[in-house]
Amino acid sequence: METPIPVVSYLEHPSFQFERFTSAEADAICADHIQKLDRILATLWPKVQSRQASFEDELQALKAESDKFTQFLSSERLTLGSTVRATAVESVLSAIERIEQEVAYYAQPFNAHRYQNKAVELAQQIDKEGIIFAPIPLNEMQNLRKSLAAPMKHMREIALKQPFTRRSYPLALENDYWKIIKQHITRNHLVDAASIYQGFPLEPIYCAISYEDPKQTWYKQCYESETSHTAYMHYDHDFEILKIIIYVSEVEPFNGPFSYIQNSHYSVHNSFLSYYYRYFDIVSEKQFNPPKTDYYRPRFKANTFRENFIQLPLLLQGSSHFGDDIINKSTQSTQLLSLEKQVLTKDNNCFMFTGSRLIHRGGLVQEGERFALQVGLSPRPAFFNRIRRDTRRTAGKTIRKILGKNRKF
Ligand SMILES: [Fe+2]
Repeated sequence: METPIPVVSYLEHPSFQFERFTSAEADAICADHIQKLDRILATLWPKVQSRQASFEDELQALKAESDKFTQFLSSERLTLGSTVRATAVESVLSAIERIEQEVAYYAQPFNAHRYQNKAVELAQQIDKEGIIFAPIPLNEMQNLRKSLAAPMKHMREIALKQPFTRRSYPLALENDYWKIIKQHITRNHLVDAASIYQGFPLEPIYCAISYEDPKQTWYKQCYESETSHTAYMHYDHDFEILKIIIYVSEVEPFNGPFSYIQNSHYSVHNSFLSYYYRYFDIVSEKQFNPPKTDYYRPRFKANTFRENFIQLPLLLQGSSHFGDDIINKSTQSTQLLSLEKQVLTKDNNCFMFTGSRLIHRGGLVQEGERFALQVGLSPRPAFFNRIRRDTRRTAGKTIRKILGKNRKF
């Protein structure tokens, strides 16, 4: 069963109770534009992925519809502050540009037949589930832990200096730990499966170690009300990256398991809003320039942002990191939590997932600690070209992981 992409009801949220000037008619016009864009995506993606049919008509329709949409957003029919208006328009345009980039990846020739059957089967499984598992045997895991002794020590030192924030450190794709990881992912066809699933060849492009403990507050107390039970549920920004997570520690329900919302990956991919929200996150953080906080989405803590945000047409109020904004015990919260599936070491200590499509979260430790590795698979040359263009806009953690400036290991 496909679950719809979560759209948060901010009007009901106690921290968004400001006078709102936007009319119900404007909300409906916006919903209509989005529905039209979604319809185009629904015919575009199957054509793009099959590589059989031409999808020029859909691309042109997408462009024409987004032009109408941005004209509406720029018009006086909407009562919006200039900053939030510019943010919404830029986010729509960036979302369309990103869909075009994604399509361009598929335009490259790709021969799936040169891969082994096992990799093809796994790729089908990623398509079906959004995630596949490849457990690391105990003896290999013991060796991996030994080879990570120095980076783990370093992470503990970082934790003393940065007790409240997220902590991730890039590792070089060499040394003993990398030999073990590389052997494991090759033996389990993970890179091949990811390439077939994506439809273009991927390779490991970064490996980072993270260390989490209960002192961290980066995902807590966005609002005065209690922290959301769905805090940090999100989908990732970069469509071309698949991620492999390796639990270095034993992971139980209380020390930060990775979890995902079953069957969420189709809806995220097919929804125009998921593209729009990703860019709205980036553009609004830059435009509103909120005071720095340990909390990872500082703009949502700022009243000036919330007051402007609530003036947007209803569907344009959102975030790719939406989990923190869902009201506890609401229907939406109950539904998401009921579909959430945790990955624990007793079942699996290594898995690969489609982070830009599957709704997920992890590393929220209540007790104990968690060390984990994250390996990113990406098409290298094209990705670096894109990074150059997008660096100023995103300056994200992915880039830091890849470049790994001044890294020690
Ligand atoms: Fe993520």
